[in-house]
Amino acid sequence: LNPPQKALSGQDKHSFGYATLQSRLPVIVSKTVDDVYRTYHSLSDADPLKKEKEQEAKKIIELIGGLRYELQRDKPFRPLTDTREDVEEWNKALAEYYPTSSWYKASWLFSECYLYRRIKEAFALTQHWKDYDPFFEQKQTVFKSSQKAVVSMAVQLTTPVDVKTKKSVLDIKVQDGPESKATRDAFFEMVQVSLWGNATDLSLLDNPDLAKVEQLQSRMMSSSSSNSSSAVSSANASPAASTVHLNEVAQGTSEEHATELEKHAEKILSNDTELLWSKVKSLRNGRVDIILDNAGFELYVDFVFADYLVRAGFASEVVFHAKRIPWFVSDVMPFDFQWTLDQLHSPTTATSDTPTYFFNPTNPIEQQALQDLGKKWQSYVDNGTWKVTSHEFWTSCYAFYHLPTHPSAQDLFQDMRQSDLWIFKGDLNYRKLVYDCKWPTTTPFTKAIGPLGQGEEKAEGVPMVVSFRTCKADVVVGLKEGVEENMDNIAANWMVSGEYAVISVSP
Ligand code: F6P
Ligand code: MG
Repeated sequence: LNPPQKALSGQDKHSFGYATLQSRLPVIVSKTVDDVYRTYHSLSDADPLKKEKEQEAKKIIELIGGLRYELQRDKPFRPLTDTREDVEEWNKALAEYYPTSSWYKASWLFSECYLYRRIKEAFALTQHWKDYDPFFEQKQTVFKSSQKAVVSMAVQLTTPVDVKTKKSVLDIKVQDGPESKATRDAFFEMVQVSLWGNATDLSLLDNPDLAKVEQLQSRMMSSSSSNSSSAVSSANASPAASTVHLNEVAQGTSEEHATELEKHAEKILSNDTELLWSKVKSLRNGRVDIILDNAGFELYVDFVFADYLVRAGFASEVVFHAKRIPWFVSDVMPFDFQWTLDQLHSPTTATSDTPTYFFNPTNPIEQQALQDLGKKWQSYVDNGTWKVTSHEFWTSCYAFYHLPTHPSAQDLFQDMRQSDLWIFKGDLNYRKLVYDCKWPTTTPFTKAIGPLGQGEEKAEGVPMVVSFRTCKADVVVGLKEGVEENMDNIAANWMVSGEYAVISVSP
């Protein structure tokens, strides 16, 4: 808790930190209460523990109500009172660094992390709600609204379009190896898809407009399907086969798709994909670690990206890092990880002759594609190619500067050093990488990430560090001279709107 620059804080009334503390977090807290209220009201009368659960739920609501009061009145932080394994660490930090601090005085990063940890406290103090995720329903609803884009991708990844070899669009793209244009183009697309999957997180959307979410996602996916069509023809796939499958899911003309992709690429204000590609294409059966951000559609596209790395032979091990507690509303927990895979291939009705599924595309080819994909991904998990793990460090108050040296993160750091590449997804991970400071926007990324970068304090054994981040906080680094001024003229809120992005690499 010793930032290298002035940290962002809610004290600055013009900052997004202030707006977050003032307006966004109280809404998030209220929605948490609503969720618990709804859940306990729908408990079945047949549940023998109903009474106890109700009482505990009331207690949770009271505690979270108290939290909202403290936040809105900028009350001093108080120590945590539950018995989770991270309590000591949190209370040490609270006592050492913030004995007289409060929500608006502290760094925004600390206050916000503390809020989610306090929400967890309310559940952790109970017996029956200990593992309850008050954000799960929101994650589920928004994932459901992503059906169009999810299905479109699944078809490209699994449906055979080459009559002879029965290869899918993706397999055709990667079949000629790292030096081929198709493999390279596919990589650049996958990176964009994985990046923009971060644009629709739930904490930014007080009232998610599901139609808008769907529109944004389908646009991104249609960008990929245009290129898949060209990959299919360049691979001499049977025209009949590609007509049958791809036209059924195509959305718009190729020209529109290309423009859409270009339009999105223009919004990446600093783009190190080329540098990342030079590393990735040199990997053979490597290990890639993805520090996940959000569940739902973003997790799905992270799977798509990881699948590409495996099919192309770049990685034989992908380690996904999830959060142990409900975090920043939409973040992935290990449960979400498995749940997402299950929704693709397992029926939601256990005993029925005509099974129903979470997604219900009317075209049987599409339903088949989802199931095939889900089974393929599940097999990666079963045979250890994909691993999901979680560590307390990711939900601590510490920035990632502390990963190499913090005593409680040593096991994590030693394990991660075995990796060839670390990919950090999303806005909060970016903020933690750069310590959420007021860096000049031209600061090199490798400098801003301190020990994980290339500067003097560089830690030993850190591989290439990459961030795919859509900008949702008032910090950004790695921009060329003049970009900030130019952006200020284009859109006053460009740093926080989620419309712009950076892909940053530290070699
Ligand atoms: O509220 C803080 C914040 O980091 C925002 O900047 C961002 O909107 C959100 O939380 C989380 O974004 P992400 O899911 O991309 O980390
Ligand atoms: Mg998130």
